[in-house]
Amino acid sequence: MAADIERGKDLHDSNCLTCHASMYGDKGNDIYTRPNRKIETLTGLEMQLKRCKNSLGTPWPEDQIKDVQLYLNKNFYHFEE
Ligand code: HEC
Repeated sequence: MAADIERGKDLHDSNCLTCHASMYGDKGNDIYTRPNRKIETLTGLEMQLKRCKNSLGTPWPEDQIKDVQLYLNKNFYHFEE
């Protein structure tokens, strides 16, 4: 099944946004476009996503990870797939 960008956004906004927002002010998504952002490749994005996801303490199936990765890449990172 192809990754689902809408589901990725829902998952992201309900699980990931609050923590980033607490660090970067109310616009939590700014972390993805900050000038000194750390992610340089699609693989790097996947690795950071998994590190962050682990801090949530809930296991995520691989397809949810792919959905969120797709959402972040299409909206913020724009790496070649
Ligand atoms: C408990 C807090 C917390 C949660 C929850 C969290 N993150 Fe993060 N996230 C961080 C921190 C802290 C950093 C910055 C790490 C750094 O600068 O090395 C970060 C950075 C990132 C980055 C890299 C930003 C850049 O520099 O380009 C990505 C991508 C990311 N998070 C994705 C996610 C996703 C996806 C989720 C939800 C599954 C998530 N995060 C949940 C704390 C969190």
